[in-house]
Amino acid sequence: MRFEVDESKCTLCGACVLTCPADMVREKRGAIKISWVACIGCGHCQAICPEGAISLTECDYPGAFAPLPDEVASPQALLSLLRRRRTVRRYRPDPVPRETLEQLLQAAQYVPTGANCQCQEFTVLTAPRAINDLRQGVMDYYRAYAEALADHEHPERLAAFGGTGIGAMHEHILAAVPSFVKNVDAGRDRLFFDAPAVILVHARRDEVLPEAACSFATLAIVLIAEAVGLGTCITAYASLALQALPELRAAAGVPDGHEVHHVVVVGYPAEVYQAVPPRRPVRATWL
Ligand SMILES: Cc1cc2nc3c(=O)[nH]c(=O)nc-3n(C[C@H](O)[C@H](O)[C@H](O)COP(=O)(O)O)c2cc1C
Ligand code: SF4
Ligand code: SF4
Repeated sequence: MRFEVDESKCTLCGACVLTCPADMVREKRGAIKISWVACIGCGHCQAICPEGAISLTECDYPGAFAPLPDEVASPQALLSLLRRRRTVRRYRPDPVPRETLEQLLQAAQYVPTGANCQCQEFTVLTAPRAINDLRQGVMDYYRAYAEALADHEHPERLAAFGGTGIGAMHEHILAAVPSFVKNVDAGRDRLFFDAPAVILVHARRDEVLPEAACSFATLAIVLIAEAVGLGTCITAYASLALQALPELRAAAGVPDGHEVHHVVVVGYPAEVYQAVPPRRPVRATWL
């Protein structure tokens, strides 16, 4: 990013110098100089200037440097959103309008990312055929996995899946694989719950901390979804299978070189929670 400083407006308050995470903004002989060498493009220098003295020379991103929104979510409202959001595992068949899905993705652009990489990308499946194809691919994988798990006489079958587990799959999930497969084979969609939309959250592997970017983006998606009356389910069954199978990623339209960190099922809930499920007390060490 390249910035210009209007010296006639600058009061040399120093706010831009202090906020720059890359130490690219300096005061030299009574003028602010901004270098781009290690700039991470966060835009904080311009966004913090109280005089409007800094301007980005080229940026066509929508909403760039818009005034701060007036509305501030109260702590109570934010906490209520966090406490109300639930994983939803029953959906109405009604499609989710594209503009509503776009609203979720837009929200996911505002999360923090390592070195401001903003590397989160999305593949949105709404076509029943696309969702079905992915469901089939994921289930073929777990079906084979369940068979290998059950075949104690041929441990090499399990080894073909990466030894003791699918990638980093936890024993807890592995224990659930056989009944998961049985349910889906019996026509109960325990993977996508017959929801009308599925969002794959992915990023290039060579980006800065891509998993964090995708995880925060996913959290933004599920929170805004709750706020607009949608239900969601983050499904590791799908993301783990997509991580294990390059051909499944390609078939789902994920670009080469990307890792799928999360898969979010989205739709209008067909189930209503009556209470907040228990949460462990805070475990924290205070020093
Ligand atoms: C990374 C991640 C993976 C998950 N994978 C699945 C999954 O494969 N299938 C599923 O039904 N729920 C899945 N969940 C939902 C969790 O089971 C759920 O978040 C947890 O039980 C707490 O319930 P709550 O989301 O309603 O608070 C996943 C959640 C996360 C954060
Ligand atoms: S924040 Fe604005 S007014 Fe303050 S020193 Fe930087 S450019 Fe000048
Ligand atoms: S955009 Fe961010 S990193 Fe670049 S000069 Fe401004 S504050 Fe520094």
